Amino acid sequence: MAKSRMPARLDLWQSLSGLVLALFMWFHMFFVASILLGAESFDRVAGWMEGSMLFEQTYPIIVSMAAMGVFALFVLHALLALRKFPSSYRQYRTFHGHMKRMGHEDTTLWFVQVFTGFAMFFLGSVHLYIMMTRPDTIGAYGSANRVVSEWMWPLYLLLLLAVELHGSIGLYRLAIKWGFLTGRNPVEGRKKLKRAKWLVTVFFLALGLASLAAFIKIGVTQSDHYGQPVLPAEHSLLSVASVGGVS
Ligand code: HEM
Repeated sequence: MAKSRMPARLDLWQSLSGLVLALFMWFHMFFVASILLGAESFDRVAGWMEGSMLFEQTYPIIVSMAAMGVFALFVLHALLALRKFPSSYRQYRTFHGHMKRMGHEDTTLWFVQVFTGFAMFFLGSVHLYIMMTRPDTIGAYGSANRVVSEWMWPLYLLLLLAVELHGSIGLYRLAIKWGFLTGRNPVEGRKKLKRAKWLVTVFFLALGLASLAAFIKIGVTQSDHYGQPVLPAEHSLLSVASVGGVS
């Protein structure tokens, strides 16, 4: 019987969808980190995402559509990854036992990737659903409110940890699997890749934590205004209107 090419094709699709998602995440983390340059910078970048460079007006629907595209890719990637999950508690126990006895770092990394991937099914879906349905609230003020007054910070903290570990382990495994960047000496290449992987994780975790802290700071300062009207065209700190005038 001829061997099916399907498993190899599914593997390729899994790698490609993972690569696009990981590159998107790098771009996303820099976009979110613009809050570190101040509320106006974040609002300006959010405006670009809504087409301010192309049109006279901004269109939050552009962000909705982008989030739908990312969500579709996210679901496809998760669906393809399901094939690799241990399919019963017995399988899981056997794998976990082998992993502990072997103490092999790449096997442990695989386990971390499965665990963080599983967590992201839930954490990532909540965030993407909000981005699809409320893109109009993205802005220094709206985002900081979401983080503090709408209690998104615990979810973002967990999602940040999961996505940064998952993404960089994923890229490392892709490079090994498809033979990129390993150089002439595979042992030495793997060591260098592993170092690069940790650097990437630490860098994006630090950037993400600093951005989250900046949102928290704004959100706490603004929490007294939460629920009060915001002038329609802007979401910057300056546009918070209190009852009876702008405070
Ligand atoms: C097009 C899709 C996406 C858009 C438009 C988007 C937008 C944003 C925005 C505006 C924030 C700032 C906080 C807020 O406004 O609530 C944020 C934070 C965050 N997003 Fe996304 N996001 C997208 C996809 C994703 C995906 C796929 C993930 C991971 C699975 C993710 C993970 C995070 C994390 C962890 C934070 C907190 C960042 C930090 O702590 O610095 N996002 N996102």
